[in-house]
Amino acid sequence: MKSWINHIKVDEHYTSHLYMQIYQQIKEIILSKELKNNERLPAVRKLATSLHVNTVTVVKAYDLLERDGLVIKRIGSGTYVNYDAEELIGAVPMDDEWEQSQIRQLNQLSERNITVTSDTINFASANPSPDLFPVEDFKKALLEVLERDHGFAFGYQDSRGYGPLRNRVAELAKKNGIHTTSEDIQIISGAQQGIDLVAKGLLQPGDNVLIERPSYSGAMAAFYSRGARLRDIGMEKDGINLTSLEKAIKETRPKLVYLMPNFQNPTGISYTPEKMKKIIELSETYDFMVLEDDYVNELAFFGEPSHSIKSFDTHQRVIYIKSFSKMFMPGLRLGYIIVPKKIFNALVLAKQATDISTSGLLQRALERYFYHGMWERNIKQLTEEYYKRFCHMKSIMEKELPYGVTCLLPRGGLNFWLKLPDGMEASELYSRALDKNIVFAPGSLFYLNHPVRERLRISIAAVNEKQIETGMHEMIRLIEQFNSSGNIKPINRGQLEPIL
Ligand SMILES: Cc1ncc(COP(=O)(O)O)c(C=O)c1O
Repeated sequence: MKSWINHIKVDEHYTSHLYMQIYQQIKEIILSKELKNNERLPAVRKLATSLHVNTVTVVKAYDLLERDGLVIKRIGSGTYVNYDAEELIGAVPMDDEWEQSQIRQLNQLSERNITVTSDTINFASANPSPDLFPVEDFKKALLEVLERDHGFAFGYQDSRGYGPLRNRVAELAKKNGIHTTSEDIQIISGAQQGIDLVAKGLLQPGDNVLIERPSYSGAMAAFYSRGARLRDIGMEKDGINLTSLEKAIKETRPKLVYLMPNFQNPTGISYTPEKMKKIIELSETYDFMVLEDDYVNELAFFGEPSHSIKSFDTHQRVIYIKSFSKMFMPGLRLGYIIVPKKIFNALVLAKQATDISTSGLLQRALERYFYHGMWERNIKQLTEEYYKRFCHMKSIMEKELPYGVTCLLPRGGLNFWLKLPDGMEASELYSRALDKNIVFAPGSLFYLNHPVRERLRISIAAVNEKQIETGMHEMIRLIEQFNSSGNIKPINRGQLEPIL
């Protein structure tokens, strides 16, 4: 037996699984280049005997090394070190570099906590402003629960969620073309928790996760916190680039692919049904799960129905997360997941370990809110209000976008994704706008690495028509000043680029 094997120590009293201990130690040995390229690792049975563990434990450890690309398994021959893999997965941040990018992400997240006052024009927030919250209706629903359930409203709830609410949510999903039952529903304290639970229940350190480029930074942070390794795949006007996606899938064998197929955050891009179906096919061929974050599918402004990848999911590959923040009240922290059966238990365990259950009082009140038909009324009102804002923003952009600025025109949702003239950094514009009490989201927040510094996201969720008018005219003035003061020489008129 090779000498390096004597250095591997396993201890069943450690909190991490035995296979993780073996995987991590062999990974370190390989990465420190102690082994030769193509060197054969010990046979599974031999290593298991020498470490006094089960053969399945070693198989699992070798599987993880294979997924990292650090070894290659040759059927009937054995498992071999593969240093070429480092080049193969070079685009994925590793070790130090990975830690650095983790820190960068955390910094980016804290940058999100911008201080806004009541007179700030807030293009940064993608959540409705408090004047749009249906407070009176929700108060009625709350009172009804208190009068009906008394103390029961304050007990621990089933970790999967309050049964009657799960029924209503399943009905709601059916209206959106998803065939499901309450048995598949997990109630969550907001979509962010949902993403975190999926990461917690499904991912092991070192697992690969593919995301869109750009993507939602809260999801990146959740995946990182579980030790996942991320790679981003570019977007086209009808969704993720499938050629790049398939290439990355082949190279990294991801466990999870995280997508926002309707009015993607931040670009506003929506996937065509064809792309959605192709993603299901890929998940079957290459054996991964899709995490679909459908945060604002309700806001389709051009008449066509919005689709979901889940509605095409014939093979239980899609974990579907729906937030109630954008179309209801973010502070309630409510949402749901439709969970494929094979991972339901893992998710309930993750939920139990996280917060036992989502507030029973709020779940019961939401159920009453649905029961009285207030939900549909609220969605209708919000959609009408957002549509007005959307049209106002669009018309300003159509007429007045400064030279060199481009913007994707989404077919719905809350976000406009702009690009400033080359060389004009959004962070600089951000500082100048902040002086005028205007905030927006600099694009760098949405990139895993190598941000496009000229990008920014403008959201219409928390600004009324008057604020859109005042805020955009000020922003346009600032960009024009910036244009003429610097070395930047934009050549094209500003333009809105329609999204398919
Ligand atoms: C795409 C996306 N998913 C999830 C979330 C988190 O939503 P929630 O408030 O439901 O946790 C956000 C919040 O901004 C988001 O933009």
